[in-house]
Amino acid sequence: MHLLTMNDLTNDEINYLLDQAQLIIDGQSNQYEFKLTGSLLFYEPSTRTKLSFEMACHQMNINLLSFSKETSSVTKGESLYDTVKTIESLGADFIVIRHPDEQFYEGIYTDLHVPLINAGDGTGEHPSQSLLDLLTIKQEFGGFNGLSVAICGDIKHSRVAKSNARVLHRLGADVVLVAEEEWQDPTLPYPYIAMDEAIKQVDVLMLLRVQKERHKNGGLVNSHSYLQQYGLTKDRERKMKPRSIILHPAPVNRGVEIDSELVECDRSRIFKQMNNGVYIRQAIIDFCIQKGGVLHENHY
Ligand code: NCD
Repeated sequence: MHLLTMNDLTNDEINYLLDQAQLIIDGQSNQYEFKLTGSLLFYEPSTRTKLSFEMACHQMNINLLSFSKETSSVTKGESLYDTVKTIESLGADFIVIRHPDEQFYEGIYTDLHVPLINAGDGTGEHPSQSLLDLLTIKQEFGGFNGLSVAICGDIKHSRVAKSNARVLHRLGADVVLVAEEEWQDPTLPYPYIAMDEAIKQVDVLMLLRVQKERHKNGGLVNSHSYLQQYGLTKDRERKMKPRSIILHPAPVNRGVEIDSELVECDRSRIFKQMNNGVYIRQAIIDFCIQKGGVLHENHY
């Protein structure tokens, strides 16, 4: 099956994926004993997502068909559809794509016979990030029901915010948003509150990167005044509830959405999220492959 948005997964499937990732963390092997090949097509920059998919593949014994936008026929004008169909024809068993266009997968996934995993579509969704965030929250609190979560920052341009707000609400969490007016998103039906309120009430404070590259004005943000008004300062961190945690998908704009010294503070789970990303992506690949029937059709 494809994983394009968090809506593709039922609550049971989400919990299954989180459990599978946790089993791998706890030592269960999920190495394939037969040949499987994946391909990672990144049309937007990435460090964590691309490398953690790569690391997941290494650990599962999956070969990777390398692709780089700059040296591929994309530079000759080849379409995404033709590129994806080429990679399928070469024998890839699944394809992971990050692309600047929202819903890039429309007009592609119905013609594909191997799983397509969305690694971020413009300002649309980022399901694998959302699942690793859910895993990090579950490890901390055991579940989501009744948990108070604030998603803070450049919500309008953040695919992480979109995936997480909807799924956390669906799983029973109480979701609030913090954003300056310009960066609020009318499609998310959750209340906006001030940062000073959020820090006092939430269990999970999810910060977002200011997405300068997606801003029409070229990303003119006054770091100091943004941090004071909407960011996590040291003073605000001291006022958070005793057990509450800080998440951020990274990369972090240190000193903009968060004081640089807080990136590795006791409450921060930012590097934990990255580590969880490797395991959740193993679980996602396995799930999509199994559900897609690839194991059955090609390997038995
Ligand atoms: C996020 C993304 O690419 O959407 N990063 C990531 O995948 N870890 C968030 C961001 O770039 O701000």
